[in-house]
Amino acid sequence: MTQSFTFLVIAGSLLSAASGQTGLAPKQYLSLPLGSIRPTGWLYDQLMVQTNGLAGHEHEFYDYVSETDWMGGPSYYSSLEEAGSYWFNAMVPNGILANNSGIIQRSQEFLDYVLANQDSTGWMGPEVNTTKPRYLWGRYPFMFGAIQMVEYNPDLTDQVVDALYKFVNLANQMLHNNGEGVEAWTQTRWEDFVMTLQWLYDFHPNGNEALLVDTMEQLKYTGVPWEKVFESQYFPTTATDDLPNPLGYVLSWHGVNMAEGLKALPATYRFTHNQSDLDRASEGWDLLFQYHGRPSGIYAADEYLAGLEAARGTELCLVVETMFSGSYLYQVIGDPKYVDRVERIAYNALPAELTGDFWSRQYLQQQNQIAAKNMTPDPFPNDGPYSNVFGLEPNYPCCTVNHPQGWPKFITNAFVTTADQSSLAQVYLGPFQTKTTLATENPVTVTVNTIYPFSDSLNTTITAAKAFTYYVRIPSWVVNGTISINGGAATAVSPNNGLQAVQVKAGTTTFTLNLPAEITTESRPHGSVAVHRGPLHYAFDIPRTSKILTQNGEQPLAKDLEFDASTAWEYAIDTSTLQFVNNPPPSGTLPSPVFDSGLPPLSMTVTACPINWPIAGSTFAASPPTNPACTGAQKTITLTPYGATKLRIGEFPVFTAN
Ligand SMILES: *[C@@H]1O[C@H](CO)[C@@H](O)[C@H](O)[C@H]1NC(C)=O
Ligand SMILES: *[C@@H]1O[C@H](CO)[C@@H](O)[C@H](O)[C@H]1NC(C)=O
Ligand SMILES: *[C@@H]1O[C@H](CO)[C@@H](O)[C@H](O)[C@H]1NC(C)=O
Ligand SMILES: *[C@@H]1O[C@H](CO)[C@@H](O)[C@H](O)[C@H]1NC(C)=O
Ligand SMILES: *[C@@H]1O[C@H](CO)[C@@H](O)[C@H](O)[C@H]1NC(C)=O
Repeated sequence: MTQSFTFLVIAGSLLSAASGQTGLAPKQYLSLPLGSIRPTGWLYDQLMVQTNGLAGHEHEFYDYVSETDWMGGPSYYSSLEEAGSYWFNAMVPNGILANNSGIIQRSQEFLDYVLANQDSTGWMGPEVNTTKPRYLWGRYPFMFGAIQMVEYNPDLTDQVVDALYKFVNLANQMLHNNGEGVEAWTQTRWEDFVMTLQWLYDFHPNGNEALLVDTMEQLKYTGVPWEKVFESQYFPTTATDDLPNPLGYVLSWHGVNMAEGLKALPATYRFTHNQSDLDRASEGWDLLFQYHGRPSGIYAADEYLAGLEAARGTELCLVVETMFSGSYLYQVIGDPKYVDRVERIAYNALPAELTGDFWSRQYLQQQNQIAAKNMTPDPFPNDGPYSNVFGLEPNYPCCTVNHPQGWPKFITNAFVTTADQSSLAQVYLGPFQTKTTLATENPVTVTVNTIYPFSDSLNTTITAAKAFTYYVRIPSWVVNGTISINGGAATAVSPNNGLQAVQVKAGTTTFTLNLPAEITTESRPHGSVAVHRGPLHYAFDIPRTSKILTQNGEQPLAKDLEFDASTAWEYAIDTSTLQFVNNPPPSGTLPSPVFDSGLPPLSMTVTACPINWPIAGSTFAASPPTNPACTGAQKTITLTPYGATKLRIGEFPVFTAN
């Protein structure tokens, strides 16, 4: 350990002493180990759709993660830059939750290979014995994957924890050596490493607390100051295209960096104990969605933050990273606004950005998307013309390897325990089975039967050895929600901070939740509106023609698809005529897949009229016209869940029907 290290540890402990607290601040809620929470019903089916699609097969044919190169090893084992690291982080939970032996074996081989090739200095990855510069970031998603493997299989603990400590010691020296290993991307993504350090601190400190906290501080000091990026005086309130970044950190306004950076302030709070870090995290979250938000739950960034216009793009990587960050924000802070939004993103923005079979994905989705094709010109200042094509790797390969973390991490964060581990809470609503042992040796099983979000009702059965307080999230949009316990009368829900308490006795407890919601509209730019009911956003699903642009030579299911509108989409709607339609599946089972045209059981009807709505740049919709005149007869159109639409209008001009 170097001299400077000792000095900084003292400085660090003085910092903690100044706030009167030492050690890491506790989280409000704790996640459960991978494998404790399993999807059932339609959500299990959705995970299998992903597993049988691009996510579960790409390692077999896609050269970004399947080819052989350095050191005679397959590159996906060793390429801890982006390809292998993202793939591993996502496919560890995907393989285990889908119980797919091929993927589980592949993840194990990946882990074994990386650990076996860690060099004597502690470095992991393709820069071993090469002259390639050692940048830290690429290892961060790999470390998340390794932690998940340990959670699932504690036999791996010593091997992984030892390797992580070797790497932490090296990284600590590099950081003290003028921030070695921190280039511009690593500089924005330091919080992911801090979270791994905090996992070590929480579960395997082994006397290394000072080293761990010092490394967290070094990462923060050499990284982007997120407490400033998220400060209202610096935060961009428009598309950032020509806007100079007042802090000089251009990459802090990059959409994926920001999605990952949402974790930075809650992670910082744990070692600073500074309430201001939590307050700023919350303000930053609100600013992001106020100025760049989408009715689908997510925000727009076609590379950089892109404002509110409906033709601008949202990158698939930032969709899944925001979901993961929102889960973590909730666990540290406990504000239900984070999980309300993550659930909306999961059930709207995520499935909208892939074909129903999860074989083809976009790089950018648009809130109003009238074509998915090679667009010249395109509406994205910093992305290519191929960005909204549904394919294997449109525009960049990153989202092909990163998107598979979306569903698995949503599932693994769907339940949490309270900090004292005596209570269990369901925070994401949907069909699950969770098994865990709570404090005071209380083994508990929870089974949730529902087709939510395609229904308002959820049936929960809990078995427990001892009495405890169970919690279930009641989303902020619920109106007239009721709960009926053990077949008793339905009574109004009464959530506290978003959670309904249910007193569970030893033995079996059942309860039924009914969680209706009103139809609501959201004001969007140019006087347009977006339509919601409960967790789902509703859009006009533009009927489409489809053309295969290319097919992968080895795997023909991996194809690039062009979609064009085959009917008119230029409508204004009268929101006073919106009517909700529920056609529950007679079998009780949803179709598989469910996120494609005409498949979800819920829809809305609305009176619409044709209008003049110009096309911009020949392939995308201009801004919705304000107060347009009807150019033809009124008719009734149907709106469907946004996640099932691949071409759509989600922000409509309005008119008043007669
Ligand atoms: C996973 O699959 C194996 C082999 O088919 C089976 O024995 C095991 O019970 C399954 N595990 C779970 C959790 O479903
Ligand atoms: C790196 O080089 C050293 C010294 O030549 C050698 O001992 C070691 O095996 C090499 N490591 C890898 C992973 O190839
Ligand atoms: C807490 O954070 C704020 C904002 O970054 C800073 O101004 C303040 O000095 C910090 N407080 C302590 C005790 O470090
Ligand atoms: C929930 O329980 C009610 C009452 O037992 C039953 O009618 C309903 O079919 C159940 N729904 C689901 C999704 O299991
Ligand atoms: C809630 O209850 C009120 C009063 O009965 C009723 O007017 C309203 O339609 C209900 N809303 C929903 C979404 O159930």
